[in-house]
Amino acid sequence: MLVDEALAALGLGAGGYYVDATFGRGGHTAQILQALGQQGRVLAIDRDPQAVAAGRRRFADEVRLTLLHASFADLAALVPAHSRGEPCRGVLFDLGVSSPQLDDPERGFSFRADGPLDMRMDPTCGEPVSAWLARASLDEIREVIATLGEERFARRVARAIVEARRERPVERTSQLAALVANAVRTREPGKHPATRTFQALRMFINDELAQLEKGLAAALEFLAPGGRLVVISFHSLEDRLVKHFMRRQTQIDPALLELPVLPQGVEPRLKLVGRKRRAVAAEIQNNPRARSALLRVAEKIK
Ligand SMILES: C[S@@+](CC[C@H](N)C(=O)[O-])C[C@H]1O[C@@H](n2cnc3c(N)ncnc32)[C@H](O)[C@@H]1O
Repeated sequence: MLVDEALAALGLGAGGYYVDATFGRGGHTAQILQALGQQGRVLAIDRDPQAVAAGRRRFADEVRLTLLHASFADLAALVPAHSRGEPCRGVLFDLGVSSPQLDDPERGFSFRADGPLDMRMDPTCGEPVSAWLARASLDEIREVIATLGEERFARRVARAIVEARRERPVERTSQLAALVANAVRTREPGKHPATRTFQALRMFINDELAQLEKGLAAALEFLAPGGRLVVISFHSLEDRLVKHFMRRQTQIDPALLELPVLPQGVEPRLKLVGRKRRAVAAEIQNNPRARSALLRVAEKIK
């Protein structure tokens, strides 16, 4: 299973300090703690307050775990504050939304059930998708749906939203799903026509790519030499960002190689561990979301 490979890639031994950057419902944190033994410690974070509240109940007696409501974009400050000077041996990013988020219509992530069009992973800040759709221009909406959803019919979808909001605000998931289904006539097999639009709006309203970039940059700083950076992504744009980040850090800038003497501090900071991996068929059968899961692993050199 991809999850087992991800956990194995963390190189868990008895003891050590690890970071779970995307706690969710704590499935991976539980497995990390189990592998670590009594000397291990985990800092787990999630930007979703419901995830953190559920985690605090589940792990109420777990003294080896620090669970914080925070974004992984802020890990650069959080890890030094909680590590007690211990070197960090590994960090896990399991990106995207969790099943509890998708399954709760009140969170507004899903086109399958009606709910308020919110989609914030952290509802304590920012604005819901409905508020943004009420004020964004047609071009802004088109741009988000085209780039983050890679939706060929982004203009049609944006126009449908702008026309619909003249009549009444677009405030419900079912309303948006129906709007998109009417605007996008072609169907991708096995995909609801609103899949790309919902994904784009979720990624936009949660600023997911910028947060990921910051989280990866932070990991590079706080990981100890030999520490592992393990990332599971579910979206081609996320994976591309992870791939480019890792590649940049595993190579010396070709322009610098032209210099007679290499400046200090430009050596690669990561080395890749294996190739990218995908979930196997049996895993996909049990969990259809795993179909698009990709695992990438790198190790900090210095
Ligand atoms: C796929 S789930 C993780 C599931 C988890 N590994 C488990 O075993 O239950 C992704 C989680 O990451 C959280 N998340 C997404 N972006 C985040 C960010 N920038 N900072 C912190 N948590 C984030 C989401 O709220 C969600 O709970």
